Amino acid sequence: MSEKPVVVLTRRWPEAIEAKMAELFDLRINANDQPMSRKQLAQALLDADVVCPTVTDKIDAQLLSEPNVRTRLLANFGVGFNHIDVSAAKTQGMVVTNTPGVLTDATAEIAMTLLLTSARRTGEGERLVRAGGWDGWRPTHMLSTQVTGKTLGVIGMGRIGTALARQAHHGFGMSILYTARNPRPQSEEIELGAMRCEIDELLQRADFVSINCPATPETQNLINLAKLKRMQPHAHLINTARGDIVNEADLVTALSTGVIAGAGLDVFVDEPNVSQALMDLQRVVLLPHMGSGTRETREAMGNCALANIQAFFSHQSLPNQV
Ligand code: DGY
Repeated sequence: MSEKPVVVLTRRWPEAIEAKMAELFDLRINANDQPMSRKQLAQALLDADVVCPTVTDKIDAQLLSEPNVRTRLLANFGVGFNHIDVSAAKTQGMVVTNTPGVLTDATAEIAMTLLLTSARRTGEGERLVRAGGWDGWRPTHMLSTQVTGKTLGVIGMGRIGTALARQAHHGFGMSILYTARNPRPQSEEIELGAMRCEIDELLQRADFVSINCPATPETQNLINLAKLKRMQPHAHLINTARGDIVNEADLVTALSTGVIAGAGLDVFVDEPNVSQALMDLQRVVLLPHMGSGTRETREAMGNCALANIQAFFSHQSLPNQV
């Protein structure tokens, strides 16, 4: 009987998926669930046929070009793959897959949550009550910004951006402006009350701006002080994509000098470290990169990665090759 392929999970996955994979493969799990060191990642690439990384594993050209690397497939657990040098992987003859589609709604929900929390100041309100600082109802207490009927600008109208636009338009009667390489079908623009425009127009006109584009060299620091200054002083910025699309120091400046009114962030430049300057601001909502973090979605992501691995070993076309 031929030996089972060696598959390394760099973090713990939902139990049901780990159990399925343990039946099919010689599964090696990073049991302590801490990010693997560079040395451990290098060893995994030497030992395993398949390595399944996550956003916490930086797999760069240097790691991938080690002699005697055994890995042929990097089956990423997540849709974003900016932590993997895909072209270096391809040069080494490796295939890279990701898990798109299954996390769309969950991530759009967190973007909407951040939008509502930032606009309606519910994070501040909750902190006030818990600190025992609430002195009762009054007409001018903790006034915030209404969401219903406002304009949402979506930077990157892919799957998640479109799902957010759908929630915002159908749930809150919002008008949608969006940027995208290609226009969405006209029927969808009509359904979503959406209009494509250039980024500067979007920033100038939107009451809420949500970042939903991938992290690439072109989108790094896309939202800097000059761009923030194009936004309206009452506007809020939401980021559920990747931290380095926003220049965090510029965002702190914009929030503390009233260039924009608020922000909601699920992603940061140096995760899990969040700068003290951001922590010190009341008008920013900070979440621990939990966009796809529902039980249902994390299982679906695991199944998606598993489907990619199975297709790889049965020489079928891979559902999600990047
Ligand atoms: C994703 O799927 O890209 C999430 O942000 C976790 O990596």
